[in-house]
Amino acid sequence: MRRRTVLLSMAASLLGACGYGEAPAGAAGTRTLIVYYSWSGNTRAAAERIRELTGGTAEAIRPVKPYPEDYAACVELAKGECRTEATPAIAALEADPADYDVIFVGSPNWWGTVAPPVRTFLKQYDLSGKTVIPFFTHGGGGLQRCEATVRGLCPSSELRKAGAFPGSRIGTSGGAIAEWVGQVTGGAR
Ligand SMILES: Cc1cc2nc3c(=O)[nH]c(=O)nc-3n(C[C@H](O)[C@H](O)[C@H](O)COP(=O)(O)O)c2cc1C
Repeated sequence: MRRRTVLLSMAASLLGACGYGEAPAGAAGTRTLIVYYSWSGNTRAAAERIRELTGGTAEAIRPVKPYPEDYAACVELAKGECRTEATPAIAALEADPADYDVIFVGSPNWWGTVAPPVRTFLKQYDLSGKTVIPFFTHGGGGLQRCEATVRGLCPSSELRKAGAFPGSRIGTSGGAIAEWVGQVTGGAR
């Protein structure tokens, strides 16, 4: 009986070491990376707030070919890319996600899903065994298919509940972001 208990607790610690344990994502010693793409600054502002709250490292995803600055042109290009689930080339990240335990992944809601550079990031980097926490800013549509898309692209990660914040009110969303970060990291920071 005692041997069985020891074996069970060893298995539990091993699972914990692989990132499947119950330790809060914000526990002391947890290394947090915030990776995001932002076209007009709203998702960057949310990422900055998350960085302040978690003490993590934030890094933007940079498409090799930037999206047009003109809104209508960007919307048109994004429409085709989102429909075909395109994965445009992105610059290599300075941070190595392998060095982190918790990865916040941020994107604007584009055509109901993640912006294509975020899709590229999720396909290109192996986040298995990591705690992945998606967040989005949007123009009124909320999450739509954004969270489901990230789940589909991270089948071996531990996904936490996505945050969704209206882009037009991002400047006054600091409290809402803090509340959500508290929930998804287990309260510890
Ligand atoms: C190409 C494009 C497509 C968009 N599609 C949607 C959408 O389907 N639903 C929605 O709620 N907002 C949509 N928006 C609005 C953005 O999600 C919103 O403005 C967001 O906060 C922008 O984030 P950013 O400043 O980090 O780029 C779209 C914006 C752009 C530029």
